[in-house]
Amino acid sequence: MLRLWNAIACVLLSAAVPALSASSQSFENSAIVRTVDLGGSLVHVTTTFAVKALEADASVYTITLPEDEIFNTSWLEVKVKGKQQPLTVTYSGAPAGSNSHNLDVSLETPLEVGGTINLVLETVQTHATWPWPQQAGQNDDQSLKYQTSLFVLSPYKTNVQRTKLKSSSPRILSYTTPEKVDDFTLESPVTKSGATVTYGPYNNVPSSTNKAFIEKYQQHIVLHYVYEYPVIEVLDLKRTAEISHWGANLNIQDDIVLHNAGPKLKGHFSRLEHQTQSFYNRGGSHLIPRLTVHLPAGIRNAYYYDLNGNVSTSHLRVAPSVRNQKNTQHSVMELQPRYPIMGGWNYSYTLGWDAPLGDSASYDAKTGKYIVSVPVMTEIPGSVVDRAEIQIILPEGATDVDYVAPFPSLSNELSTHVTYLDTLGRPSITFKYKNLTNKHTKPIYVSYRVPLSVHLRKPMAVATVLLSLFTFAMVARRVDLTIHKTKTVSKKM
Ligand SMILES: *[C@@H]1O[C@H](CO)[C@@H](O)[C@H](O)[C@H]1NC(C)=O
Ligand SMILES: *[C@@H]1O[C@H](CO)[C@@H](O)[C@H](O)[C@H]1NC(C)=O
Ligand SMILES: *[C@@H]1O[C@H](CO)[C@@H](O)[C@H](O)[C@H]1NC(C)=O
Ligand SMILES: *[C@@H]1O[C@H](CO)[C@@H](O)[C@H](O)[C@H]1NC(C)=O
Repeated sequence: MLRLWNAIACVLLSAAVPALSASSQSFENSAIVRTVDLGGSLVHVTTTFAVKALEADASVYTITLPEDEIFNTSWLEVKVKGKQQPLTVTYSGAPAGSNSHNLDVSLETPLEVGGTINLVLETVQTHATWPWPQQAGQNDDQSLKYQTSLFVLSPYKTNVQRTKLKSSSPRILSYTTPEKVDDFTLESPVTKSGATVTYGPYNNVPSSTNKAFIEKYQQHIVLHYVYEYPVIEVLDLKRTAEISHWGANLNIQDDIVLHNAGPKLKGHFSRLEHQTQSFYNRGGSHLIPRLTVHLPAGIRNAYYYDLNGNVSTSHLRVAPSVRNQKNTQHSVMELQPRYPIMGGWNYSYTLGWDAPLGDSASYDAKTGKYIVSVPVMTEIPGSVVDRAEIQIILPEGATDVDYVAPFPSLSNELSTHVTYLDTLGRPSITFKYKNLTNKHTKPIYVSYRVPLSVHLRKPMAVATVLLSLFTFAMVARRVDLTIHKTKTVSKKM
């Protein structure tokens, strides 16, 4: 009788809260362990759910994330522990009155009653830390705060759960002591050991996605820690990738606005003090003296300039070209701005290079199409990219343009880009993204066809241009020879 009533209630409820009541009985969590790797712009969170099925054919496991956490989560993936292939995750709405959101994970094979599986949820949070104090002197330490929720919520009963907050330095200045957790532990609710603060173990936590549990037990915890690396934020990245069949070249140019999101500099910047401190290998960790980035192997003509022109204080070590090799070699570029970038400061620069097209292009004889891969971005370690725009400019006259993006973009559009030597204009495709992390450095694949006649058109355009230049030069020389002389003189000055 009770079962029947439950079934009816489920049917009635299902319109508003799909299958929630049914699924909360399907599993229990033997253990949940959440590990938070505290960083600057990026915080990596790994949550392992040791799951046991209570029903036969249990195949959809629900993960619940609090709203404020979802808001700062820029990347998310669920895998079976030890497996490479991520599982399918679908958003399944917000449980009524809970301020949280459900994600349904589809298991590859349903579990039998008593069957177990370990699921690993990996997320990257962006903009989740903030500098505290908000201002710091040139040689002061930098410390940050991070806030999260005490309990990992779950629609299922949990036998034991704990949360570990790991800092890169043992200098943890403060952390919240939680209240009202006597129902779940008789020991100390929080412990610090070295650079790790552990909340829990908390035992026998009931289904926690309901309003009653959240109002009674859920609470914010805040950790204040010294962070010894700069907090780097790329406010804007504009990447232009230009594919040229004629020169067999892929040119990539990044226009970047970098921001030091650490504490704002208190007082003025003193170069003398900076040089003295760096001589003794001391000084504030919140200034950015240089950036090291990994560029593709086999690149040529690398350039780096800022608003004042070329920056010569940079080093590039080029790795040999990797055509047709599953080789992870890369060139290493060290960018050294003219002055260290202090907290709160911006720095705009342009970095570009040429690469052999053959390293990232292939031709599919079956379809007659070229396929070129262009990475969404080049990682600046530890940095978030707030806004990114990636424009891929295809060879002139390219048709049947198609693409595969590694993750959905906010928008993409196809347009035509006309450069000096073009006769038809070059199709280009633009992708826009927000809040990219180190997990987003994957390639966009673009495929297109280039008719043979188009290959010929460009040399012809070049020939025509050269011819008219020659004609112009001849006419100019005949008309006035002094033009050349004045030009030479002004160049020397
Ligand atoms: C990017 O992150 C910021 C800060 O967390 C947030 O305000 C913004 O909504 C995010 N943008 C997107 C598209 O997720
Ligand atoms: C998410 O980002 C916003 C804005 O940057 C911030 O106010 C909020 O505290 C962050 N949430 C968490 C859980 O850190
Ligand atoms: C910058 O350097 C490149 C090559 O080293 C050179 O071609 C270019 O003219 C320079 N630009 C300026 C503004 O000095
Ligand atoms: C840095 O750039 C952003 C956006 O371009 C701007 O809003 C901000 O005011 C700049 N900050 C400084 C200190 O110039």
